[in-house]
Amino acid sequence: MTKSNKPHLRNPRSRQTLRPVHIVGTGSYVPERVLTNADIEKMVDTTDEWITTRTGIKERRIAAPEQCTSDMAAEAARRAMEQAGVDAKDIDLIICATMTPDMMCPSTACLVQQKIGAKGSAAFDMEAACSGFLYGLEIGQQFITSGTCNTVLVIGAEKLSTIVDWGDRNTCVLFGDGAGAVVLQSRGEEHGILTTCMGADGSLADLLLIPGGGARHPASKESISGKMHYIKMSGREVYKNAVMAMQTAAEEALRRCNLTVADIKCIIPHQANLRIIEAIANRLGAPMEKVYVNLNRYGNVSAASVAIALDEAAREGRFQRGDLILLLVFGGGLTWASCIIQW
Ligand SMILES: CC(C)(COP(=O)(O)OP(=O)(O)OC[C@H]1O[C@@H](n2cnc3c(N)ncnc32)[C@H](O)[C@@H]1OP(=O)(O)O)[C@@H](O)C(=O)NCCC(=O)NCCS
Repeated sequence: MTKSNKPHLRNPRSRQTLRPVHIVGTGSYVPERVLTNADIEKMVDTTDEWITTRTGIKERRIAAPEQCTSDMAAEAARRAMEQAGVDAKDIDLIICATMTPDMMCPSTACLVQQKIGAKGSAAFDMEAACSGFLYGLEIGQQFITSGTCNTVLVIGAEKLSTIVDWGDRNTCVLFGDGAGAVVLQSRGEEHGILTTCMGADGSLADLLLIPGGGARHPASKESISGKMHYIKMSGREVYKNAVMAMQTAAEEALRRCNLTVADIKCIIPHQANLRIIEAIANRLGAPMEKVYVNLNRYGNVSAASVAIALDEAAREGRFQRGDLILLLVFGGGLTWASCIIQW
């Protein structure tokens, strides 16, 4: 993506005239094990100072060997349902955004359905890398807006520690494990999710990918010895595109809702790199006090990042009912999205 080829944004008009959709509960779960920068210093040629100054990350969470994406997703979902006061039997649809499903088949969403006891609900996974949670939120919203579903669970969950090459200092310092979830319903009142902008640029797929394990390079001795099942990333290129795409997506969402950044109470961006977040805040003219950051504690948890941050920010009281919040994501694909919610 170049300056002359700015991120293209499709779809949603402002939805004020449609059936409003609300986030009625949030939840998150991160595994207990903490892996600090000092721990990573013992694994690869890096320093706490390099990781902190280049990324803002101090530590990340790592799931136990027996703990899988669906386990973390189910725990985050239970917490969101508890807060929403929603019973498992009320869930019509489960959408799980992940790039680290438990298995190639069945979907992680089906495994979550079994774990939380939402028997009979529809369930599927969707993959838009780190943008997955907002893509999932938009899909879930459409099901409610159309009247097809009343209650939708949207989850972002990742066990990225299984696809990180722990010998590659370029990537292993960046990622962690965890899950976040929201329950969507229409409360029959104004506000809720006001607009979502989504976009993608598949011509830049090579900047961030996991080449092995799919139909192109199925698991084989060669794919394993070539470390093709691990994340490969052109960090600097991803960085540049992330800043530009999230800025454009944020501006488009604000324009559609006839708002300025001054109207926004809290910005929750994808938690990949503090320098990316600061650059976006700077370009949007938003003070960093408005921006929620937890990547120092968790690193980049891909599809779970904004879901976890949203839950933490809400529970910390960073915004109240009626406040406007702006969510921003960016990831492999390349993909990106923005969303404005009146809480
Ligand atoms: C990955 C990232 C942190 C690297 O930061 P950077 O400032 O761009 O660093 P560069 O890529 O320019 O690398 C600078 C040097 O540091 C080195 N380096 C990379 N990782 C290192 C590490 N963990 N410790 C020490 N040195 C490291 C590189 O080898 C390079 O050395 P060289 O100049 O001798 O080749 C940054 O580009 C980034 O965050 N990119 C976006 C990643 C992202 O968001 N991914 C997920 C998207 S959803």
